[in-house]
Amino acid sequence: MSHSFHPVIAIDGTAASGKSTFARQLARKLGFVYVNTGAMYRGVTWYLLEKKIPLNDAEAVTREVISAGVETRLHKGELAFRIAGIDPLPHVRESRVNEAVSLVAQLAGVRKLLVAEQQGLAALSPLVMEGRDIGTVVFPKTPYKFFLDADVEVRARRRSAQGESDVIRERDVLDRERKNSPLMCAADARRLDTGTATVDELVAQALEHLTARGLKTAGD
Ligand code: DC
Repeated sequence: MSHSFHPVIAIDGTAASGKSTFARQLARKLGFVYVNTGAMYRGVTWYLLEKKIPLNDAEAVTREVISAGVETRLHKGELAFRIAGIDPLPHVRESRVNEAVSLVAQLAGVRKLLVAEQQGLAALSPLVMEGRDIGTVVFPKTPYKFFLDADVEVRARRRSAQGESDVIRERDVLDRERKNSPLMCAADARRLDTGTATVDELVAQALEHLTARGLKTAGD
């Protein structure tokens, strides 16, 4: 199921590659809704940690997430995500979540549930959606795809400048090597190196690319 009534811009890439800053700014320019799917995997992980569910027990994890129930809506032009009726967003940048999220994200049961939620959002609004598998699995048919990366040292510095302790190398390895929907660049994605250009420059390049690919925006 990857039909969408509205256009979707898929933004994938490595950890701390600057996806969120880029995607948010692109969404603002286009007047599209910005959706961070990493926050959904992080929110689920936070909930499982709170509930002390063993993360290596795929069945227990999937059972818990299904019984808690996830709810995905758009509210005031933003993603509103809840698990068991709770908004996990205030907790998703905790170090313990950084450390555990790639374990949870490799589980097929969790991915199936969240991917269906993500696909459903495209019926509601034009989207700029960021993650790891948006151009390859969630919306493989969208013609609008970007893959962001930068040197690992640049990315590590970026995270510590944000005051966060993050295990980006370890997450990249787990995200790339997992069996289910591994992180990879779609064959038809435009690659962007976020270590050698400013966000404004990258967004300008992206807008040119999207126009060349036929995207009609509000101003056209
Ligand atoms: O983008 P982020 O660093 O906030 O994502 C957190 C983790 O969630 C990332 O290490 C892998 C996982 N993730 C995923 O597997 N698929 C997505 N579409 C988004 C995130």
